[in-house]
Amino acid sequence: MPPIPSNRIRIVEVGARDGLQNEAGRVPTPEKAELVRALIATGVPEIELTSFVSPKWIPQLGDAAELLELLAGDLSDGTTFSALVPNMQGMERLLEANEKAVNTTGRRAIDKVCLFTAASESFSKKNTNASIDETLERFEPVAHAAREQDLAIRGYISCAFACPFEGVIATEAVVHVAERLANELRVDELSIADTIGHAAPGDVTERIGALSHIERATLNLHLHDTLNRAADCVRAGLAAGVRSFDGAVGGLGGCPYASTPGKRAPGNIATSTLVQTIEDEGFTAGVSHAALNCARVLAGDLITRARAGATA
Ligand code: HMG
Ligand code: MG
Repeated sequence: MPPIPSNRIRIVEVGARDGLQNEAGRVPTPEKAELVRALIATGVPEIELTSFVSPKWIPQLGDAAELLELLAGDLSDGTTFSALVPNMQGMERLLEANEKAVNTTGRRAIDKVCLFTAASESFSKKNTNASIDETLERFEPVAHAAREQDLAIRGYISCAFACPFEGVIATEAVVHVAERLANELRVDELSIADTIGHAAPGDVTERIGALSHIERATLNLHLHDTLNRAADCVRAGLAAGVRSFDGAVGGLGGCPYASTPGKRAPGNIATSTLVQTIEDEGFTAGVSHAALNCARVLAGDLITRARAGATA
C-alpha cells in the first residue's frame, strides 16, 4: 500500500447514520446498502454505517443488523466502519450482527464502536433518557466488551458548544466529559460535536485549545452547518491542529432531538464542502470528487423517495 501523505486529513462519512436517522420516511435497507457502496467508492477512509440504538427511539435505523448482513461482501479492508451504541443491549446486538457479517477475507463489518454522551444534562436526558453520569456508567461494560473484541472506540460529546435547551455550554463542562471519556473509558478518539451548528471559528479555536492536554485520544470535529459557518470552523480546526472531521454526503442529517416542532434540525457539513475546504487549506482528503458527486446524487434520490413515502 502506498504511504499516506503527511498532509492527509481523515474524513469520517456519517451520512448513512446521522443523515438517515433524521428522515421521517424510511429508506429501504437495500437502498441504504447501495448508498454505502457508493460512499466506499469515494475513497473516504471511514464510514459510520448505522446505530444499534433502541428502534423505539430511532426506527429509521432499526435495520442495523440487516444492513450489515447485506453489506458484508462489500466491506473493503481499506475502510473503517463504525456504528453507534448507547448501552449493553445495543452492544450485544452489534456483536451478534458482526459475527454474521463477515466477508471472504474474514473481515467483520464493524471495526469501531461509537459511544455518545453530551456536555449538556438536558440534551443527555432528551437523547438517551439518562444523565451524563448515567451514560458514562452504561458505557463501562460496552467499552470493556469493545476492547475484548479488538474494536476501536469513539466517544461523541454532543452540545460541545451550545445546547438547544440550555444555550451556550461552558468549556469546563466539555473538558470534564472529555477527560472522563479519555481517562475512565479509554476511548481512542473524541468527537467534539456542534450539535446545533452554533459554533463560530473562534469557539473552535478555544475548545480545541482547552482539550489539547488530552493526548491519549485523537480529536475529531463533528460540525452541523446551521449558520453556514461550518467551513470556517473547519479552517479554525485545521489551524488548531485537528486532523479528523465528520461530514455527511449532501449535507444530510441533524439530531432528531435538536429539532423543534415543524423545524428540522440542520444538516451536517456536506462532505463535498468539507473536502473542498480541506484542499483549499493545502491539505488532502484522499477522496474522489467525481465519486462523491455520484454518492450525493444517489443520496438525494433516496431521500426524495423516502420523503415522498412519508407524506403519501
Ligand atoms: P430507554 O427507553 O430509557 O431504555 O432508552 P430502556 O432501557 O428503558 O428500554 C426501553 C425499551 O427499549 C425496551 O424495550 C428495551 O428492550 C429497548 P421494551 O421492553 O419496551 O420492549 N432497548 C433497546 N432495543 C434495542 N437496542 C437497544 C436498546 N436499548 C433499549 N440498544 C436508550 C434508552 C439509550 C436505549 C434510548 O434513549 C436510545 O436508544 N436513544 C438513542 C437516541 C439516538 O439515537 N439519538 C441520535 C444519535 S446521537 C446524535 O445524533 C448526536 C451525534 O450526531 C453528535 C451530535 O451531532 O451531537 C452523535
Ligand atoms: Mg450529529
